[in-house]
Amino acid sequence: MDTRDRKIEKSLLRFTTTGSVDDGKSTLIGRLLYETNCIFEDQYAAISKTSRNRGQQEVDLSLLLDGLSSEREQGITIDVAYRYFETDRRKFIIADTPGHEQYTRNMVTGASTAQLAIILIDAQQGVLTQSRRHGFLVSLLQIPHLIVAVNKMDLVNYDEAVFNKIVQDYTEFSQKLDIHDIQFIPVSALKGDNVTTSSAKLSWFKGYPLLHLLETIPVTGDRNLVDFRLPVQVVLRPDHNFRGYGGTITSGTIRPGEEIAVLPSGKTSKISTIVTFDGNLKEAFAGQAVTVTLEDELDISRGDMIVRKNNLPHIETAFDATLCWMGEENLDLQNDYILKHTTQSVKAFVTSIKYRIDVNTLHRDKTDTLTLNDIARVQIRTGKPIFFDAYNKNHLTGNFILIDPLTNATVAAGMIRGTIQRVSDVHGGKAITRKSTNVTWEKASISRELWEERNAHKGAVLWLTGYSGSGKSTVARALVQKLFSEHCQVMMLDGDNVRHGLCGDLGFSDQDRSENIRRVGETAKLFFEQGNIVVCTFISPFRKDRDYVRTLMPEGHFFEVYIKCDLEVCKRRDPKGLYKKAERGEIAEFTGVTSPYEDPPKPDIVVETDIMTVGECAGKIADELKRTGIL
Ligand code: ADX
Repeated sequence: MDTRDRKIEKSLLRFTTTGSVDDGKSTLIGRLLYETNCIFEDQYAAISKTSRNRGQQEVDLSLLLDGLSSEREQGITIDVAYRYFETDRRKFIIADTPGHEQYTRNMVTGASTAQLAIILIDAQQGVLTQSRRHGFLVSLLQIPHLIVAVNKMDLVNYDEAVFNKIVQDYTEFSQKLDIHDIQFIPVSALKGDNVTTSSAKLSWFKGYPLLHLLETIPVTGDRNLVDFRLPVQVVLRPDHNFRGYGGTITSGTIRPGEEIAVLPSGKTSKISTIVTFDGNLKEAFAGQAVTVTLEDELDISRGDMIVRKNNLPHIETAFDATLCWMGEENLDLQNDYILKHTTQSVKAFVTSIKYRIDVNTLHRDKTDTLTLNDIARVQIRTGKPIFFDAYNKNHLTGNFILIDPLTNATVAAGMIRGTIQRVSDVHGGKAITRKSTNVTWEKASISRELWEERNAHKGAVLWLTGYSGSGKSTVARALVQKLFSEHCQVMMLDGDNVRHGLCGDLGFSDQDRSENIRRVGETAKLFFEQGNIVVCTFISPFRKDRDYVRTLMPEGHFFEVYIKCDLEVCKRRDPKGLYKKAERGEIAEFTGVTSPYEDPPKPDIVVETDIMTVGECAGKIADELKRTGIL
């Protein structure tokens, strides 16, 4: 085999390096480049001179990376700097991430394709919060291999005990993480111990030097070659005869003649040709930048996605995600953000924070905002559907960033965990798998903000819950009248009424009630998006169903109003004679008699109809709308 053939067979390892300030990351990368002969003579001469001038004993290899640092200081944005080097056995791409404040974002966006991460720990400092944080990210990002390099061993006299203590501390932490392969290695990047060759000073260490690990760690096929996804980046129309759609294939493979669908339109066609600079291809793979032409003329634009007809991603406006907050400003659940996902940018808001994770202890806590470096599990809603896979299935269609539309700064990076649990999952019913395919989201010509401006009040959903006979409809009618007289854009959705039509096919089983609430919630949301104050009166006996509706609206626009009334009083009132019927056994599953009601543990508003007048109840709700800035 001649050398050319061997070169072609060399495998490629992509890795990232991370650490905290001054832990010697640049020196380590510099040494790897230098000792693998990947720098030029004159570069080495130049940095030797600089080092000597500065009175340094060793050649400061970190200076090799300085060219880039100065560009960074001048404010030239470099998201991830890629460095290449190779040995006889392998080629390497290092995704070197600049300032550590940007680290999370770069890892999530650029480096999520890394197969290995090196975390540097300064032997003198031991395990720091940063080291834990980075380990946590490695596990979140599902980077398959982790090497913890304990650096600056020369400054602790190559003491085995120091190394062992760090291994012990870090192992204790990392056991709680989802990391399958972790190796510890003592090095001195400055002196060159155990980087590319073993060192006599570290003779107690029985493992291999760092470079050997990098050369031999198995790089298995971690690319998703199953789910074909081509986010459209450009539409090429050089002349009337040619219409091509260009982009980088994020996953899967495709051949001419195969059937595809275009999202969001859902229109189908077949791949006609796959065009590249080097001629047409018989097959294209994940990672390749291609232009495809189709057999049919379809209306496709940037942000659309070409997929296989029988292998669709999720097409949703809501999902669960893990979010790494990196904004200077805290997360505001009221704010709109821009969500960038593959080649799409859409309006989005964080509807709720399920919990925040303390990266030191991995404990979960409750919070209603996120500050710099917080990591949390959240739910997100987008203004129009995005096409995604869960991050664990597909890193590239499963990650996104959030941008503050006012400052244009990236404020968060996230990994999509999956779709939001549907309300009908709750009572053992089948999850709703949307049967309506080929649907597009029609963009509103007038945004909610514009409606709100004209109405001179915000949109809101008021969800009145309580027993039958508690006075939900009575209070709602009084409230609607009051808001109407104050010139509000207001409307009402009532249980008995929607059950005449929209929900006429539903009964009162737990499952049917859930579906009832889901439909009404979705309806309320559509009206809310057009600036209305929507007053909904439904028994809605299950907490989970009400909580679900809450997730549909942005924080601060949904009010759970508990129409509280003693059950005995409701039974005495019995306005429709239904309690009596139920007690005689003539109505099955009647709330309060043979079916449960779960009262709201933390309602936004409580009115007690057995001690307050109707006017007082409506007044209290209106006051709360004023206090919270809806009116
Ligand atoms: S929910 O449980 O699904 O929220 P919803 O508010 O829509 O109920 O409808 C409740 C109304 O349906 C009641 O006001 C009552 O008039 C009528 N109804 C008929 N059968 C039942 C029942 N088994 N349980 C409760 N309400 C019932």
